[in-house]
Amino acid sequence: MHTYRLKQRQGEDNKIQETLKRNGNIPIHIAAIMDGNGRWAKKRGLPRIAGHKEGVESVRDIVEACGQLGIKYLTLYAFSTENWKRPKYEVSMLMRLLMRALRDETEKLLKKNVRVQAIGDIGTLPNQVQEELFYAIEKTKSNTGLVLILALSYSGRWEITNAIKLISSAVKHGELEPENISDRTVEQYLSTKGIPDPDLLIRTSGEFRISNFLLWQLAYSEIHISEILWPDFRRKQLYEVIADFQKRERRFGLVSEQLTSSK
Ligand code: IPE
Ligand code: IPE
Ligand code: MG
Repeated sequence: MHTYRLKQRQGEDNKIQETLKRNGNIPIHIAAIMDGNGRWAKKRGLPRIAGHKEGVESVRDIVEACGQLGIKYLTLYAFSTENWKRPKYEVSMLMRLLMRALRDETEKLLKKNVRVQAIGDIGTLPNQVQEELFYAIEKTKSNTGLVLILALSYSGRWEITNAIKLISSAVKHGELEPENISDRTVEQYLSTKGIPDPDLLIRTSGEFRISNFLLWQLAYSEIHISEILWPDFRRKQLYEVIADFQKRERRFGLVSEQLTSSK
């Protein structure tokens, strides 16, 4: 692209970002179910993996835009517990793609002040993926900008079951009294410990379901279902979703008047 057009596009991009920031109420934590890669490829007569590859480009663009907007946390559902049941070939291609993406992006993420974290049953991932992942986490741990949380071999039920095991064990060893267990206690045993709940959940490709993502944490998240397939979901679409979020009233079980009177 010509330098002039590139500059012009960046100028427009900055303007939109400034407007969103000026509106206030930028979400602190965005979670996304990145869905529709296979359909994107199918529409073009390409193998499913081509959709996953293009999906990585969307991740790159969304991560950068979130960092620039000052969003604190971005959790991306990249591979679910149930996704292990996909055909072997697709699973192995996905793992390879993940490994390569981590390898190629870590340096850039480091420079962009992004901190990488992961949630899920990480021990079930192939060793090479684990190595790249731990390297990215370790390398970026001092970064202070966007926290990018990759949900890998993750499911909400796995996470809650795991928390129940840990809590039961603490009770058994006399470290915890059952009557002292509150929702705050449960949070301490989830893999998202210390991370605020998502303000906004985005699901692409028009499916109206949670698919076992962050079951506990999404209790009061605003949900946005986008018809766009993930490989086509770029910063422009993200800006529209955030602008829509900024118009919503989050009531957390209260009535509207209570919210305005406390302002
Ligand atoms: C989402 O795209 C990526 C993963 C689940 C890894 P899909 O692969 O689910 O794409 P569709 O839903 O078949 O179009
Ligand atoms: C959800 O997408 C999981 C990820 C995006 C990683 P799926 O494609 O696996 O979900 P379903 O099968 O449509 O519910
Ligand atoms: Mg899907």
